[in-house]
Amino acid sequence: MLKEEKYQALLPQVEALCEGEDDMIAKMANISALLHREFGFWWTGFYRVEATSRPRSKGEEGLSQNTTHRELVLGPFQGPLACVHIGYGKGVCGTAWKERRTVVVADVERFPGHIACSSESRSEIVVPMFRGDEVVAVLDIDSRHLATFDDTDRRCLEQLVAAMA
Ligand code: SME
Repeated sequence: MLKEEKYQALLPQVEALCEGEDDMIAKMANISALLHREFGFWWTGFYRVEATSRPRSKGEEGLSQNTTHRELVLGPFQGPLACVHIGYGKGVCGTAWKERRTVVVADVERFPGHIACSSESRSEIVVPMFRGDEVVAVLDIDSRHLATFDDTDRRCLEQLVAAMA
């Protein structure tokens, strides 16, 4: 089955899982499991935009320290353990959040600032999830192979994530 067909077959399942369900964590849990099993990715999961009063991460010391700010916090996922907090504009996830667009990385070693949660990861795609105009989460998928993700993944995953919001 072509990748495109696989995604199109998943979309009705995603819509059914989300139908009448308000709990975003539950939706993220089921959808990461669905994608992970169907495609055999290395890591499949979500980071949520959350308010925090934790100190800002390294490199952000110039910014105000004592106020509440927002960061990405690990949500439901499948795969090996992952880092919990990611700052705005940091790594691939924080970049997708800041730039409000899907980021496709063919070779993680060539992405400046890539956050390596697992040394096995070679390529990655991060898709922002919008509620209205605001990014509320990102879907992050890692592959153990180079250049796994292309425009088909981008388009289909954007459609899938839009169905969840
Ligand atoms: N590689 C990501 C971090 C999250 S892990 O891949 C699960 C990044 O650079 O933002």
